[in-house]
Amino acid sequence: MKFDKTKNFATNLDNNDPLSSYRKKFYYPKTNSGEEVIYLCGNSLGLQPKSVQNHIDKELNIWQEKGALGQHSRWEHFHERLTETTARLVGAENSEIVVMNALTVNLHLLMISFYQPTDNRYKIIIESGAFPSDQYAIDSQIKLHGLEPNNTIIELKPREHEYSLRTEDIVKTIENCGNELSMVLMGGVNYYTGQAFDLKAITQAAHSVEAIAGFDLAHASGNIELRLHNWNIDFAAWCSYKYLCAGPGAPSGIFIHEKHHKWNGPRLEGWWGNDKATRFEMNRNFKPIDTAESWQISNAPIFGMAPLIASMDIFDKVGMDKVSKKGQLISNYLAYLIKENLPQIKIITPDEHGCQLSIIVPNGHSTFTSITERGVVCDWREPNVIRFAPHPLFNTYLDIFNVAEVLKNSINA
Ligand SMILES: Cc1ncc(COP(=O)(O)O)c(C=O)c1O
Repeated sequence: MKFDKTKNFATNLDNNDPLSSYRKKFYYPKTNSGEEVIYLCGNSLGLQPKSVQNHIDKELNIWQEKGALGQHSRWEHFHERLTETTARLVGAENSEIVVMNALTVNLHLLMISFYQPTDNRYKIIIESGAFPSDQYAIDSQIKLHGLEPNNTIIELKPREHEYSLRTEDIVKTIENCGNELSMVLMGGVNYYTGQAFDLKAITQAAHSVEAIAGFDLAHASGNIELRLHNWNIDFAAWCSYKYLCAGPGAPSGIFIHEKHHKWNGPRLEGWWGNDKATRFEMNRNFKPIDTAESWQISNAPIFGMAPLIASMDIFDKVGMDKVSKKGQLISNYLAYLIKENLPQIKIITPDEHGCQLSIIVPNGHSTFTSITERGVVCDWREPNVIRFAPHPLFNTYLDIFNVAEVLKNSINA
């Protein structure tokens, strides 16, 4: 699309936006003077859908009225309400999905199964500067096997003077590691730069050397279109409090490709992974469900899941094709306004991206403080990056026009 710098252009885009009606389905934080903020922080915590309250109230009422009787009639199968919508969200078969626990916990559970180093094949490829929790989880999994992270992890670094990784370099690193490579574990979208990786190419490269391909999709789910099943990805996990708008600490989703469902390898087991027909017979031996659900350990956190059901209903109605299309368009529009108005700003997000745009501004932190004081919610990541993440369901193009103006005024102040 050819952009232009006028306010009219933004208004026109809004008037023709097929998703504009979704804006009123969310609550917006307010500034001290009572105006709605411009909220560009969907990559940190998505806003609350108005429908969440009813979903939580319903479960509270059932608990009040039925106590434990709610268990068998409703809550025992509660997480299954998320299976179909989540499968559509990430391009999976229903059997490949389960929502449970928190993201880092799930990465641990998945690595317990899928990271099985041998004397020859033990290396793990990660992005340099991966999200710290992922690095801690990977380091500690390596140590559980009596290995040293320093000799085990290979970090993918951008070329000199570049900020993002080139797919060809990722593939080359995988091929060079060859039969020493046990697993690739990367983000789907990098949390810092907003780069969306070519998950299909990375998975193919990993499989060509018989390694496992796993992904942390915290910044990808609800942001970009995914085809986890068709891309033949082995496993993935994501959180649902960011773009998916399910509230602080909302539960995580996992994907395990169906080819792994007849699993004989290691796994941490619990009663919620046991065959549903015999679960309450309380037998001594674990009999796994024959789907991704067999990785479940505990019964579901109902009050954490209820908001996710509300927000997934919204995402499912819209469809990820439309969500990701607007996400890219709205961040391209922001990039255009920045390039036109503020050439001193460096955009570090590459062409392959979702809705996040990361920038480096001279005097970055004071600019960040100034735009925050002017009612823009975005975030700062050390040492020098401001991240903007316009959300396709609740941000307008006029928001973006206004943010570019605020940025200009803050920098020129
Ligand atoms: C990329 C990434 N991985 C992991 C995490 C940690 O998530 P949790 O606290 O849900 O385990 C986050 C949190 O923001 C994240 O952005």
